[in-house]
Amino acid sequence: MPLNPFNIPAAHHLIGGKWTAGRDTLEVRNPSDDTLLTTIARGTNDDINAAVSAAEDARQGEWARMTAVERGRVLSRIGQLVQEHIETLALIEAMDVGKPLTQARADAVALARYMEFYGGAADKVMGHTIPYLDGYTAYTLREPHGVTGHIIPWNYPMQIIGRSVGAALAMGNACVLKPAEDACLTALAFGAMALEAGLPDGALNIITGLGSQAGAALAEHPDIHHISFTGSVATGQIIQAAAAKNVIPVTLELGGKSPQLVFDDADLDRALPFLINAGIQNAGQTCSASSRILVQRSAYAEVVERMSLAYENLRVGPATADASLGPLISAKQKNVVENYLAQATDLTCAAIGKIDPNTPQGGHYVAPALFADVPSDHPLAQQEIFGPVQVIIPFETEEEAVEIANGTDFGLVAAIWTADGARQMRLAKHLRAGQVFINNYGAGGGVELPFGGVGKSGHGREKGFDALYGFSTLKTVAAWHG
Ligand code: NAI
Ligand code: MG
Repeated sequence: MPLNPFNIPAAHHLIGGKWTAGRDTLEVRNPSDDTLLTTIARGTNDDINAAVSAAEDARQGEWARMTAVERGRVLSRIGQLVQEHIETLALIEAMDVGKPLTQARADAVALARYMEFYGGAADKVMGHTIPYLDGYTAYTLREPHGVTGHIIPWNYPMQIIGRSVGAALAMGNACVLKPAEDACLTALAFGAMALEAGLPDGALNIITGLGSQAGAALAEHPDIHHISFTGSVATGQIIQAAAAKNVIPVTLELGGKSPQLVFDDADLDRALPFLINAGIQNAGQTCSASSRILVQRSAYAEVVERMSLAYENLRVGPATADASLGPLISAKQKNVVENYLAQATDLTCAAIGKIDPNTPQGGHYVAPALFADVPSDHPLAQQEIFGPVQVIIPFETEEEAVEIANGTDFGLVAAIWTADGARQMRLAKHLRAGQVFINNYGAGGGVELPFGGVGKSGHGREKGFDALYGFSTLKTVAAWHG
């Protein structure tokens, strides 16, 4: 049975190192054809209480006593197991979330790489000594928060588990993970691999279920010490309010409306694949999707023509057919995207991709759409659509480009395409974003690159070494010895 190579019993949570049956269940359906794949447990307050309590026990038990190098070795072993199961994990993910196999495979590779990175980093996080008063020695200690909550979305389950749980475990936290109801299967597989790798019981607990039940119970739990969340702005606001009540730190990654700025001296042959892929990868359901392409007037006609040609060649099909785009995650998400498209009647649709005529019934397919000459204040140029829709906006000057680029509520990622080195440096400073790419966009996956937003894109940083600071707290020790 390719969907369950780890023999995880259906509809179970992982609590304190044991698979624990859920009281109620939820159906897991394949977004490519709406067939029933399996069931997952529908977590309750009691399940969350049990998971938080198991995590608390772990952080006072064997897990707490492990040295940083031992923690790192366990993470590296998990990474090796992930590496050995790339194809299986890719197939599970493709069936569960609908992403084309190649893209699902890239997520599994990234998960292995996160474990390798954080496994290697676990014993390299250091405090510092501080010059202080005569007769004193002062220094800092980096310590885990304690029990960390991780509420993750359905768009990149493996990558977000890697960057969030991976960094938290490296610092010695005990985690409670609540994957999205639409994407639990690779999270559960990750739990099975963590057990097999020897992660102590309770260091990672997984409760599946609905956001409004299990998710809310975790966010509000008085005994968690940090919460990280990736998802919508609206749910992020609920999570931050819950964190405020318990006065705990929160990391929020809430997506964006990320622009790429194309100047007339850009290398278009290099830029084109990045411009398009950043919009249609995972059918546009990507927090760092580049949904706005800003193009200097003198290069405008050429960019619109070349992007349109590429769009006409895009194909949408079931995940296992490995087309350029798969279906969207759910009927709900398809409806969200179609509502945006219904607001585009005043816009010029420059090009549209094709849905393969053989796609199965019941799948949530949307053809990718490219709009040109879009006013920068149009809803399609302002709001996160989370589907395969890109808008092209013309500009004349560098100043105007920056104004348009910075003119949304978001600030996650931006890219600059120009051969002018001074302009590259200037714009990297002026663009309001957590990450700026120069003559590339998200190349290499960015496990090593700190990631997070400003404005409504959220706050806090995941990925890279800096994530380890977010998943730990700093203690200052000042000793008087005379
Ligand atoms: P969502 O933000 O509601 O769901 C994300 C996660 O939060 C899931 O695990 C869900 O179970 C959980 N959750 C939901 N309500 C909760 C609550 N009250 N308390 C605690 N946890 C809760 O996003 P949803 O409904 O899946 O998608 C809606 C929109 O959100 C999308 O159209 C897209 O614009 C945006 N989104 C952004 C993502 C990103 O990567 N930044 C990822 C997923 C969605
Ligand atoms: Mg699913």
